[in-house]
Amino acid sequence: MPQKIIIDTDPGQDDAAAIMLALGSPQDVEVLGICAVAGNVPLRLTSRNVRMVCELSGRPDIKVYEGASAPMERPLVTAEHVHGKTGLDGPDLPEPVMTVESQHAVDFIIETLMREPSGTVTLCTLGPLTNIGLALRKAPEIAARVKRLVMMGGGFFEGGNITPAAEFNIYVDPEAARDVLASGIAITMIPLDLTHKLLTLSERVERLRALGTRPAIALAEMLDFFERFDIEKYGSDGGPLHDPAVIAWVIRPDLFSGRECNVEIETTSPLTLGMTVIDWWRVTDRKPNALVLRDGDDAGFFDLLIERVGRL
Ligand code: RIB
Ligand code: CA
Repeated sequence: MPQKIIIDTDPGQDDAAAIMLALGSPQDVEVLGICAVAGNVPLRLTSRNVRMVCELSGRPDIKVYEGASAPMERPLVTAEHVHGKTGLDGPDLPEPVMTVESQHAVDFIIETLMREPSGTVTLCTLGPLTNIGLALRKAPEIAARVKRLVMMGGGFFEGGNITPAAEFNIYVDPEAARDVLASGIAITMIPLDLTHKLLTLSERVERLRALGTRPAIALAEMLDFFERFDIEKYGSDGGPLHDPAVIAWVIRPDLFSGRECNVEIETTSPLTLGMTVIDWWRVTDRKPNALVLRDGDDAGFFDLLIERVGRL
């Protein structure tokens, strides 16, 4: 039976790869809905981008919801310098035809978790955790009903990418991240410590492009654009591909490894705001609240991504 998932996302080229991996894996995951949140670019664009990726993937039937246009307690910080002004720069794709649902994403998340049998829905978050934080504030009872929350966010050994201390998804809404990590929900955290080992090496992007299908070529063009920033920054062949690791872990957890750790979020220091303080070496008696992944089979990850995108 495919696992029921809700994707919460701020596309973003790497978010697009994650959505395409999910939509190319119907035997593994049933996408109950995709929620757009403000992050890499404003909500108007993340909503547009979600729908463009669904149509590119041949899935205009997917239900798309719009959520928060700003973090819970702070002004929005975006990342056009990484993702381009549209958030999905790279390929030349048509504007979406499919429309968004009228229901707010936060209400969709609450309603779905209260309707589906408890412990059967996995939340896959690819951006700031604002929608989840707001849902927990509005209906705290949903926490006990979530099967697991699998999130791309944070960093410890690798430091940060938007500040020296903070990873972007956490930095944008640290209060939401704090609340999610304190909620009691079973969490798998996929930090930069893992995603910096998942590099879009040129042979991998060319293998994707060589599939020759419209979705695969478009994704290769997204990665061509997306990786330019990181190649310049890290000087590596290819850039880290963050968000698809969330979906890959849901489908093939054996590809990755980590340990249960306590994770706390810095929400006050101007110097380290949004830092994920991960007690990897268990030097405190703070209770573990997340499975933090640090290592993975990068070749196996890209084989999975390319194979599943090839099915679209
Ligand atoms: O720091 C990487 C994360 O921030 C990814 O989810 C990327 O899409 C951006 O949202
Ligand atoms: Ca993202």
